[in-house]
Amino acid sequence: MSTQTGANMPTHVSVIMDGNGRWAKERGKERVYGHAEGVESVRACVEAAVETGVKYLSLYAFSEENWNRPEEEVKALMELMVKAMAAEMDELDRNGVRFVVLGNRERLGDELNRIIDSCMERTSRNSTLTLVIFLSYSGKWDILQAARKLALQLWDDPDGKEKLMNMKAEDFDGFLATAGIPDPDLIIRTSGEIRLSNYLLWQGAYSEFLFTDTLWPDFRKDDFRAALESYAKRDRRYGKVK
Ligand code: IPE
Ligand code: IPE
Ligand code: MG
Repeated sequence: MSTQTGANMPTHVSVIMDGNGRWAKERGKERVYGHAEGVESVRACVEAAVETGVKYLSLYAFSEENWNRPEEEVKALMELMVKAMAAEMDELDRNGVRFVVLGNRERLGDELNRIIDSCMERTSRNSTLTLVIFLSYSGKWDILQAARKLALQLWDDPDGKEKLMNMKAEDFDGFLATAGIPDPDLIIRTSGEIRLSNYLLWQGAYSEFLFTDTLWPDFRKDDFRAALESYAKRDRRYGKVK
């Protein structure tokens, strides 16, 4: 399939993948069934991103707040992550996908952390698409851990105060979990909810948003392409007059 090019192509597309539970409920099934089907949508969107030439695709897979879900759902989700990573890694690597997980990894189990490390290491030199999975992530957690890192770096520095006073917003980017990854041009949220749910609070400062009623397990290649078309028509002014 042809690669879309041009100024109106997003470099980084991000998705708040929502609606798995409702998708399953509509079918009289357990919520986890919706999560499993959601993995198919992940595969479809990764393929669509590669085909259209999007360079960064990031997916909100599990928020810090999601730890408050029933234990059995959390357990099922974590098991699904391990299974999906093990099953998909060959194909991702073959397609030149660099796999990255960002979030509060201290809260993840050893088995999951081990497979994440191995997938990240194995695909670290790939450059067709960077796939970022936000796991145990929240925007406030990210800003706080960045502030902490910054404070620790300046703690014993005699010029620390001056450096802090001269610091620009761009300099702060480097302390965030997303350091080195461009801010999302487009943030899509599925399932009809119109909120950020503590996602990329800093990085999404100037993102375009697309909210769709489609539930995540139903969101496939055509929907991804339609989102790119919607984005292409946007006029990003960044506060200026055009
Ligand atoms: C999104 O689907 C997946 C995660 C948050 C892990 P949900 O599980 O939130 O599905 P709904 O919103 O309850 O339908
Ligand atoms: C947001 O979805 C988090 C993810 C998609 C991973 P939620 O379903 O957890 O968000 P709320 O509870 O509707 O805000
Ligand atoms: Mg939800």
